[in-house]
Amino acid sequence: MTDHPSAAPLLGRAVRHEWLLDPDFVSVNHGSFGATPRIVLAAQQDWQRRMEAQTGRFFRRVLPEALRHAADRLGAFIGADGKDIAFVENATIGCNAVLRSLPLTAGDEVLVLTHGYGAVRNAVRYVAERAGARMTEADVPFPRPDADAIVGAVAAALTPRTRLAVIDHITSGSALVLPLRRIITACHDAGVPVLVDGAHGPGQVALDMRSLGADWYVGNCHKWLCAPKGCGFLWAAPERQAGLHPVTISHGFGGGFLAEFDWTGTRDCSAWLCVDVAIDFHHRLGGAALRARNVALAAEATSLLSRRLNTEPGATGALAGAMGLVKLPLTGAVTTERSLRVRERLMDAGTDAPTHVIDDGLWLRLSAHAYNEIADYERLAEIVAHVVREGG
Ligand SMILES: Cc1ncc(COP(=O)(O)O)c(C=O)c1O
Repeated sequence: MTDHPSAAPLLGRAVRHEWLLDPDFVSVNHGSFGATPRIVLAAQQDWQRRMEAQTGRFFRRVLPEALRHAADRLGAFIGADGKDIAFVENATIGCNAVLRSLPLTAGDEVLVLTHGYGAVRNAVRYVAERAGARMTEADVPFPRPDADAIVGAVAAALTPRTRLAVIDHITSGSALVLPLRRIITACHDAGVPVLVDGAHGPGQVALDMRSLGADWYVGNCHKWLCAPKGCGFLWAAPERQAGLHPVTISHGFGGGFLAEFDWTGTRDCSAWLCVDVAIDFHHRLGGAALRARNVALAAEATSLLSRRLNTEPGATGALAGAMGLVKLPLTGAVTTERSLRVRERLMDAGTDAPTHVIDDGLWLRLSAHAYNEIADYERLAEIVAHVVREGG
């Protein structure tokens, strides 16, 4: 993966005009759906115009090559060959493709993490129940997570019946950057292949498929890489491509990985075709330096909120990325209903931050991207303090 270091670009408020963000809304939740810059949206619209100008020619002649070109550009960014990458609309669909291609029989097990993403855990439950297999769980210690304990928990949960481990690269609600390489090694030592749910990986942390050693890696480019919504991918190791099918079976059935995934019926592929523009934009804002700056800003923001709310932060150090967690200092019952109510109150007050019940606490997640600066979290802290004073 190549970054292009040059004079450090100004970030925060100085680049906010690159996005369509509402200046009156405190945008500190990049992690949920990303945010697409104007330049990337313009590129997407160009592709849509080309599609509508000569539709038949576009689908038959332009699209197949353009898709592969986009996969090659994405491959260079994630340390992979383009031929091992299929575009999918999102991480949920990519994980479903792998899970629904998995030959499971009664008594088999599929391992997930207790902090695994709800939609993906549901997909695991679905394929397991259909086959008379079981979803098993490795318990992520929280709060005060610890890399050794996480690797140990995964290793301890593997059994001779485990057919697959589904491991998040960066967990959703708890925002932990997991020790992925070590987890993959532990799984492979037990003969278990690994599907990585990397929904938050691309653009938040450096990726190199060639050295990571995963069997399948599913990523979203519409989150931290700022591609348009609906830009996800499925990378499959060459030896894991046989028998891997998209969720939708179409003309390419039996024709191999790319024939099956590149055409699943008529659809708007424009979000995938401008992934190169999103990658260029990411590099223009600093590439590796931008990612490091976002991680540092999230840490500063997390510590600011913890101090202001007189509460504890989530992960720090190597387990922390560009999202941070703070425990809400609420008294009384900690329930999902209360969590949803707090989130609604935050939204009414002009911001958005996911809240989750984790163990016995209610935790709030913040995100830091290029357009954010510390003043955003000062404002967030005021809003959260107000919501907490009102009782949540
Ligand atoms: C870990 C994880 N997996 C999967 C997803 C689903 O992403 P998408 O909605 O793009 O499918 C998310 C979304 O936040 C996530 O955090």
